[in-house]
Amino acid sequence: MGIVNEQNITDVVIASLGKHGEITQREREIATALIRHLHGFVKDVKLQHHEFLAACDYLARAGKLCNDNRQEFILLGDILGIEVLVDMMTNPVEGGESESTVLGPFYRENPPVLPKGASTIQKHYDNEETVWFEGYVRDEAGNGIAGVTMDVWEDAPNGIYENLDPDQPEYNLRGRFETDENGHYAFVAVRPVPYPIPDDETAGELLRFMGHHPNRPGHVHFILSREGYRPLISQIYDSDSAWLEEDSVFAVKESLIGKFHPAAKELGTDLHFTFDFVLKAAAAEQAVAAE
Ligand SMILES: [Fe+2]
Repeated sequence: MGIVNEQNITDVVIASLGKHGEITQREREIATALIRHLHGFVKDVKLQHHEFLAACDYLARAGKLCNDNRQEFILLGDILGIEVLVDMMTNPVEGGESESTVLGPFYRENPPVLPKGASTIQKHYDNEETVWFEGYVRDEAGNGIAGVTMDVWEDAPNGIYENLDPDQPEYNLRGRFETDENGHYAFVAVRPVPYPIPDDETAGELLRFMGHHPNRPGHVHFILSREGYRPLISQIYDSDSAWLEEDSVFAVKESLIGKFHPAAKELGTDLHFTFDFVLKAAAAEQAVAAE
């Protein structure tokens, strides 16, 4: 493979790629950049051996924390702003489509299927503010899209998602809705409150290492999907929420911020929130990819 010295070590390792086994072009591209950046990092900070061992121990401890309810590496990637950057690389905004943002660790498959206008609230809290959420899902030409499946989920007024809280009913504040023939959706839920991401164990160590707090501003998660369109994973944010410009996972985008207004009496909720989405046609996406 080559005799190394401090000057040639990075080039020697890169030159070894694929020497004794087939690798794809993409694997070569990723491995080359990974080696270059990691070697550059080690040289930049003059990493010492005891620090390398501490990093190995840290990653080993993070791995042991992973289970069905906690994916520590996504959390670490979130705290470092990596997941949101990966999302930007995966779903670049090329036209008028709505911006995506991170999925986060609290999505559950197969939420309750509910009719338009139904409520996701299964348990009430003294501090809750009920909200009539509504809006249109349109294509880039401005036409409403019927039959869009819309999964929504949010934390409860105590700041906890139901799957992490034994005192909440299963699937509380989660639902699956569908747009009507005009592309209109509506449902009742609560005003989302800020909450801290898990800040114990290795995630907490990283937050403290960076001098950060763990808090996220109030938001509601969405996944919009319909055949023929690029799925949209996103969140909408409360313009009056704390932490809007200091999100611990850097996921807030200007276009995803909306305002809660007092609701008209006939809506039967405390607040009213309107937000429209634009989906990108899957065919257009393929055409761009083929260019
Ligand atoms: Fe969330």
